[in-house]
Amino acid sequence: MCAAKLVPEASIRQQYEYIDLIAAQNREKARLSGRNPRAVAHTFGCQQNFADTERIAGMLSEMGYDITDDVNDADVILYNTCAVREHAESRALGNVGALTHVKKARPETVIALCGCMVQQEQIAEKIKKSYPHVDLVFGTHALWRFPELLFRALSREKRVFDISGDAAGEIAEGLPVLRGTGAHAWLSIMYGCNNFCTYCIVPYVRGRERSRSPEVIEAELRELVAAGYKDITLLGQNVNSYGRDLGLGMDFSDLLRRLDQVPGDYLLRFMTSHPKDASPRLFDAMAECGHVAKQLHLPFQSGSDTILQRMNRGYTAGHYRELIAYARNKMPELTLSSDIIVGFPGETEADFQQTLSLVREVGFDMLYTFLYSKRSGTPAAEYPDSAGKEEKQDRFNRLLKAQDETVEHRQAAYLGKRLRILVDGTAKSPDYPFAARTEGGLLVCCKGPGLQLGDFAEVEIDKTTLRCLFAHTIIQHETS
Ligand code: SAH
Ligand code: SF4
Ligand code: F3S
Repeated sequence: MCAAKLVPEASIRQQYEYIDLIAAQNREKARLSGRNPRAVAHTFGCQQNFADTERIAGMLSEMGYDITDDVNDADVILYNTCAVREHAESRALGNVGALTHVKKARPETVIALCGCMVQQEQIAEKIKKSYPHVDLVFGTHALWRFPELLFRALSREKRVFDISGDAAGEIAEGLPVLRGTGAHAWLSIMYGCNNFCTYCIVPYVRGRERSRSPEVIEAELRELVAAGYKDITLLGQNVNSYGRDLGLGMDFSDLLRRLDQVPGDYLLRFMTSHPKDASPRLFDAMAECGHVAKQLHLPFQSGSDTILQRMNRGYTAGHYRELIAYARNKMPELTLSSDIIVGFPGETEADFQQTLSLVREVGFDMLYTFLYSKRSGTPAAEYPDSAGKEEKQDRFNRLLKAQDETVEHRQAAYLGKRLRILVDGTAKSPDYPFAARTEGGLLVCCKGPGLQLGDFAEVEIDKTTLRCLFAHTIIQHETS
């Protein structure tokens, strides 16, 4: 057990030197052209990828780039890719293919790809051969060296490909971050995954689990709260194994209790939890920490023990039920969501029925359902499969229907209830112009005098639909 290697400060300083070099070039370009250079930084993946993009955008911004969404008006276009399912890869590749016209029109544009998809050697090779308009490719382990890699790509020495790096992983601290302007912020507490679920590519492209130090996390939380963020999500592939590599004798529930001491009016959420490591200890901490939202995303993937074992998930459906019973007993107001994979190799109708039963019995507020997607290099890619495509799709549709029925009831039960919400956007409904989230993360469209983005407020629910609660304010809290 040993803490992950920290990238030495001297290496981080070196990256800042590259940032300064590019910034100087950009100032000169801006002087000549009368406009700041622009960059696109787009995320195709999950929250972790999004948090990575925020770091890249932070570096780009320090280099003097204005961040834009318009690929036709950008000097640098960076796509941060995902590999979790085939669809994610084909979507990213389709979008990269579509950039050929941009490159033709403006050959000086730098096209860069990073993230999980390109960390796979065979994909990096494919891009080298079949996507000649791509100038720069770097994997998840090289993210912190982006300034140096971009400098090389800008110098046009050649196409720059770097998917090197130790799967044991490093942690790079001290790089800039450009966060969104709303109430919500992501805070990575750890990187990588050690679980090797047999269907999943993540451990291969993200490396081993490594935890950031509690001091660094706490300092970042303090900064976020001071900057006015009110809805902060702690991120990791399996937050419940936080700290195992640090050897400090602390776990994720200890971290939650420590962070909860940071003063301020804010909510802490976290994702993702793994049922094999989630424990009563965690639920006790959630229940007792005032800042921690009573919201749990606990993916169970399948309700069949046979399938769970072949997925290498390390728990049974019975254990999952016990965890939920404990958590709900401690936190009756808990909102619960989960991920499910339909059509894992060898899944029978009887296995699927067990998934359906679990869904009906537990009653989730939200489900993320996925059709199994074969990922080359994972053990499940070699497993024999019996069910056909149509059969799997039919199971998928039945699952969605069962879930919609549950959600309709659960939403209806909020009618007339009073809840605390955080306003975080505008809604399309003219009668309920604000979009907000409950502490449990449910969408609320609301109305009431003086509501503003970033406000917490007390509301009463007027009506409910499958996707949204509608509410008016009761008492308004302080303004940000
Ligand atoms: N670390 C998290 C989530 C990782 S990926 C966890 O363990 O819960 C998010 C979700 O994608 C997973 O929970 C799983 O439901 C789904 N997923 C991962 N690999 C998949 C695959 N090969 N096919 C279909 N869905 C997959
Ligand atoms: Fe993938 Fe499993 Fe790790 Fe989640 S816990 S990232 S599903 S290997
Ligand atoms: Fe996330 Fe996709 Fe990578 S789900 S960790 S971006 S493979």
